[in-house]
Amino acid sequence: MRKIIPLFSLLLFIGCSKNLAPPTGVVTENAMVVSARAEASRIGAEILGKGGNAFDAMVATEMALAVAYPYAGNLGGGGFMVYRTSDGAVGGLDYREKAPLSAHRDMYLDSLGNVVPGKSTIGATSVGVPGSVAGVFEVHKKFGSLPMETILRPVIELAEKGVIVTEKQAVRIEKYKKTILQVNGDSTLFAASFKPGDTIKYGALARTLKRIAKNGRDEFYKGETARKLATFIQDKGGYITVEDLEKYQAKWRTPVVFDYKTLKIISMSPPSSGGVTLNQIFKMMEPYDIAAYGHHSVEAVQLFTEACRRAYADRNHYLGDPDFVDIPLEVLRNDAYLQERMLDFSFDRATKSSEIERGAVEIIESTETTHYSIVDGMGNAVSTTTTLNGGYGSKLYCDELGFFLNNEMDDFSSKPGVPNTYGLVGANANSIAPEKRMLSSMTPTIVEKDGKLWMVVGSPGGSAIITAVAQTILNAYEFGMSMQDAVNAPRFHHQWLPDTVTFELEGFPEALKAELESKGYQVNKGRTPITAKVDAIRVLPDGTLEGGADKRGDDTAVGF
Ligand code: DON
Repeated sequence: MRKIIPLFSLLLFIGCSKNLAPPTGVVTENAMVVSARAEASRIGAEILGKGGNAFDAMVATEMALAVAYPYAGNLGGGGFMVYRTSDGAVGGLDYREKAPLSAHRDMYLDSLGNVVPGKSTIGATSVGVPGSVAGVFEVHKKFGSLPMETILRPVIELAEKGVIVTEKQAVRIEKYKKTILQVNGDSTLFAASFKPGDTIKYGALARTLKRIAKNGRDEFYKGETARKLATFIQDKGGYITVEDLEKYQAKWRTPVVFDYKTLKIISMSPPSSGGVTLNQIFKMMEPYDIAAYGHHSVEAVQLFTEACRRAYADRNHYLGDPDFVDIPLEVLRNDAYLQERMLDFSFDRATKSSEIERGAVEIIESTETTHYSIVDGMGNAVSTTTTLNGGYGSKLYCDELGFFLNNEMDDFSSKPGVPNTYGLVGANANSIAPEKRMLSSMTPTIVEKDGKLWMVVGSPGGSAIITAVAQTILNAYEFGMSMQDAVNAPRFHHQWLPDTVTFELEGFPEALKAELESKGYQVNKGRTPITAKVDAIRVLPDGTLEGGADKRGDDTAVGF
C-alpha cells in the first residue's frame, strides 16, 4: 500500500501537471482586484480590506474606473457582471445601455437609405441610455454589505485629489483630442493638453458622485442629474429624454454555463454574445487534444480559427436582445449541432467563410471598454466588463456633470450589408428598436476547475474580446501557463468575416503564417486592430491568488 500511494500521487501530478504552472504574476493570500488602473484596483482592494465583499468592491472599482480611466470607465455607459458566490451560486447582471424611446430601425440612414457617417459613432446622436449607475446600485441592493457612502468615499476623494496622467493615457488623449474638440468645443476639460505626470482633477464628477451617494440611484435616473443630463444631450442634438432615464432598469440574467473537459465555464448571456460564442468555440474544440499540438502550432491555430469562424457566423446571425428576439439557444449550444458544424473541418486546408452558411448582413460595433476581476477573502468572485464603446465613447463630455457619454448605439446593426469598425457581419436580430439593448461581445467569465473557483477573466477589445478570453483560458488550462503569462501571451483572432486571421504584431513567427497561407488562410499583413487587454485572477492550488494584469496597458493587480 505504501508503494501505491506515491505512484498514485505521481500519476495524479502528471495528469494535472499542465495546470500547475508556478505563478509569475502578483500573488496574494486573501483577496485581489485586477483592473485597468492601479488607482481603481487599490480602491477596490481598500474596500475589501475594510471588510467589504467582492460586490462592494465591484461598486467601488466600477466607479473608481470612471474617475481614473475615463477612456472606458464610466457613468455614461453600461456593462455586464457575472458572479460566483463562495457557495457556488452563479448569476449575471445586464446593465447594458438601451436605445431611447424615439429610436427606430432606420434612424442612422439618410433619405436614400445610406448610413450617415458618424451619426451612430460620434456625438450626442450616438448615445444609448446609460446603465452603469443602475448596475452598481442593483449589485449593492442584492449583495452589498457596506453602506454606499462608505464605498463611494474613496472614489470621491480620488476625483477631488485628481489622477496622475500615465504615458499611455497621454497618448490616448492626444489621439482623440481632435474629435473631442469637434464634439465639445474648446472649453471642455479634455481640450487642455496633458503630459505624463500631470494631475487631472475631476471636481464636477466628484459633485455628481456626492449627489448619487446621498440620494441613491434615482439621482441619476430621476433627479437633478437626470434632468441636467437629458437637457445636455438634447441641446447637443441627441435623443435621450428624462423619460428614457426614468424607464431604465438593470436586469438579472441567467449566465451561460457549460463544461469543457474538467472545467465549468460561466459567462454572460444575451444581449451579450460572449457566453454563447465562447460555449460554441470550446465545444467545437473539445474533441481534439489541442495541448498535444502545442501552443501556437499550425494545428492549434487552425483548430481555434475554424471553431471561431463557425461560432461567429452563428453569433452574427442569431444573437440580439432576448427581450426582443427569439434566440434558438438550445440548438446553438447543443453538442451534436456543434460537432456537426465541424464535420467539414480539415487540417489540410482552410474552410472558406463564404462556404459557411449564414446571411451576409452587418453588425455595427466599435472600440474601447474595460474589464476587472475580483475575488474576496470569502471566495466570492466578480467578473465585470464595462464600456463607453469607443475610446471616450461618443466623445461627448458633459462638463457640468463630469463624464463622457457612450456611443453604444453603434453596436446595433444600422443597416444590413455595411461593415463596422471591426468589420463584424450580423443580422436582423440586432436591428434598432425603442428600448432594445444592442448586441455586445463583452465576455465577463468565471471558470471552475473540479468544482472549485479557478479563474476570473475578461477583456475589452470589441469583437476580439471573445477570442482573447478563450485563448487566455486555453493558455492556462491546456498550455500550462501561469495567469500572468497566459494574459501576456501574443493573441490572434478570427471572426468569420472578414475571412482573415489577425495576429498581433509581435510574437508570431513568419513560418507559422506562411504555412497557414499555404493551406489557404488569409493572414492580416498591416496594422493589427486587436485591442484586447485581459485582466484575470487564478486561484492557485493552495488557495492563494495570482493576478494576470495585461502588460499591454497600465493594468494592475492589487490585493492582500
Ligand atoms: O459591447 C461591445 O461588444 C462593444 N461595445 C465593446 C467595445 C470594446 O470592447 C472596445 N474595446 N476595445
